[in-house]
Amino acid sequence: MKKLLSFLLLLASTAAAQDALFPAQGNSKLDVIRYDLDLHIDPTQNLLQGVAAVRVRLASGLKEVDLDLSDRLRVSRVTLAGQDLPFSQGNDKLHIGPLKSLSREVTLNITYSGLPHGIQDPSAPEWDLGWSQSGNSTYVVSEPVGAFTWFPVNDDLPDKALYSFKVTVPKPYLAVANGLLTQTLDAGTETTYVWENKRPMAAYLATVNVGEFDVVNLKTSSGIPVQNYFAKDGGITITARYALSLAPKMIDFFEGLIGPYPFEAAGGVVLNKDLPFALENQTRPIYGSRIAELDFVVAHELAHQWFGDSITPKTWRDMWLNEGFASYFHELYITQNEPQALEREMQDLYQDAQKRQDGSLTIETPEELFGEGVYDRGALALHVLRQRIGDDAFFRTIRSYHRRYQHKTASIEDFLKVASSTSGKAEVVARWSQEWIFQEALPPYPGS
Ligand code: ARG
Ligand code: ZN
Repeated sequence: MKKLLSFLLLLASTAAAQDALFPAQGNSKLDVIRYDLDLHIDPTQNLLQGVAAVRVRLASGLKEVDLDLSDRLRVSRVTLAGQDLPFSQGNDKLHIGPLKSLSREVTLNITYSGLPHGIQDPSAPEWDLGWSQSGNSTYVVSEPVGAFTWFPVNDDLPDKALYSFKVTVPKPYLAVANGLLTQTLDAGTETTYVWENKRPMAAYLATVNVGEFDVVNLKTSSGIPVQNYFAKDGGITITARYALSLAPKMIDFFEGLIGPYPFEAAGGVVLNKDLPFALENQTRPIYGSRIAELDFVVAHELAHQWFGDSITPKTWRDMWLNEGFASYFHELYITQNEPQALEREMQDLYQDAQKRQDGSLTIETPEELFGEGVYDRGALALHVLRQRIGDDAFFRTIRSYHRRYQHKTASIEDFLKVASSTSGKAEVVARWSQEWIFQEALPPYPGS
């Protein structure tokens, strides 16, 4: 849900201004308000049949809608208020229109099916992106642009929307999505799981995972339900179960530093597969079976719920707001009982950053998106800001930044404005941002 102002600016421009890193994705003339996905999934066949109800606000005069959808998924019907609409598919786009309706806000019902498949990650060619199958289970890891592999989407990073998922799967499988499980309906040989979200979400954080899972129910001190799902056939170790069991304590810790947990539910999904990374899917991060053993990774994905999920970057160039922040806050979590340890960690990060000669923190290419620089130099930058403006101003900045931009999008410049005004040290912040964020060369480490 974009703000009115940016919507008006859109109206003024004719060209759709997509993200510079992924210009093929998304359509900035559309503002999706919500996606209600009704999906039938057979994980043993990797078969997906769906009806996506996409409620969308159109730029004025727009009579056609282009959404991102993989050509592997075939659309059989598109309707608006019960009336069939013309549509076509090609180049991983679903083109709908012309629309006869004069309303600026419409709900398109899109019926589609197929055998979904991930794509090679443009930011890391060794990884798959989007919908994936592993044994008799399916899962989703979309960051940055994999959402189109499983539902018709406006994959424009700042176009956050509300989501609900109604997922029907054969017994004994379970379907785990974002948000709160609000209904479980028994339909003979199948089960339908309904998941709802009260807060907007960026498309790359949407997920549906189908498999056989053990469920562990926990709660944070503030009463947020934490549900962890462990793949039954995963050989998941006691170490991984223990690391995930720390989630309520980690959320308590972050609430103390940043402010209230931004969503109505929390927890994780641990796969039956050794994925080389974890991903901060909203309310329900996903972990490979081995990486889930690392408590700092669990803390990292939980810190992303504030930084990345609740506050989404305006563009992929602003990725530091995700990875630098999640990295610094997971370091704060693991060193909380030993202040010296944080300093040691930061010095280690600096040595790594120096070896690699980490460049500026503005991301210019897809390959830099998950480069170690944005994590390590990114965390160091925050540590140095904290030293320069002091603990009190630093944590007040963090809290007002989250309060102001939660459930919205922010740019690096938005953060800098909050840091300047909250600390009252505009010059210190400007100089720090020049050295640590914008300049290519890695600045010297303070005190060295
Ligand atoms: N955002 C994730 C994290 O640092 C990393 C995901 C990287 N992998 C990928 N295929 N996008 O928590
Ligand atoms: Zn991260």
